[in-house]
Amino acid sequence: MSTERTLSIIKPDAVKKNVMAQIIARFEAAGLRVVATKKVYLNAQTAGEFYAEHKERPFFGELVGFMISGPCYPLVLEGNGAILKNRELMGATNPNKAEAGTIRHDFALPCTDLSANAVHGSDSPASAAREIAFFFSAHELL
Ligand code: CMP
Repeated sequence: MSTERTLSIIKPDAVKKNVMAQIIARFEAAGLRVVATKKVYLNAQTAGEFYAEHKERPFFGELVGFMISGPCYPLVLEGNGAILKNRELMGATNPNKAEAGTIRHDFALPCTDLSANAVHGSDSPASAAREIAFFFSAHELL
């Protein structure tokens, strides 16, 4: 597998729970390097743009409302097979179905709102490229 970059977001629920460092430690222990990160306050427009592919889904409004409920930390992760590795580390979208030892199981339970699932992760090379460019300039990625 080749060296890749992917986007993770530590979502507002995980920031409020004060578990950011524990989540980043999972990435590092799995061989992923944090290339860039920053604190971001999304608003309805930027959150809606980021999640535009879900615009027609019934949960879109709730998802946007949740993502603007507090700061989040997008991170660019780099490593061998980073996109798949990050998705394995995150676990299932629904934390109630995520396996023990995954980030969503360990940091997003109990979970009644699927938007509050601790982390986001790019699902393909095309998504990773779009999502990284959404948050970071070329200069910030040097
Ligand atoms: P994320 O990986 O950030 O990508 C889209 C998000 O939509 C997802 O994680 C969930 O947090 C959120 N979401 C809210 N409701 C649902 C749902 N019913 N199915 C899938 N995703 C949902």
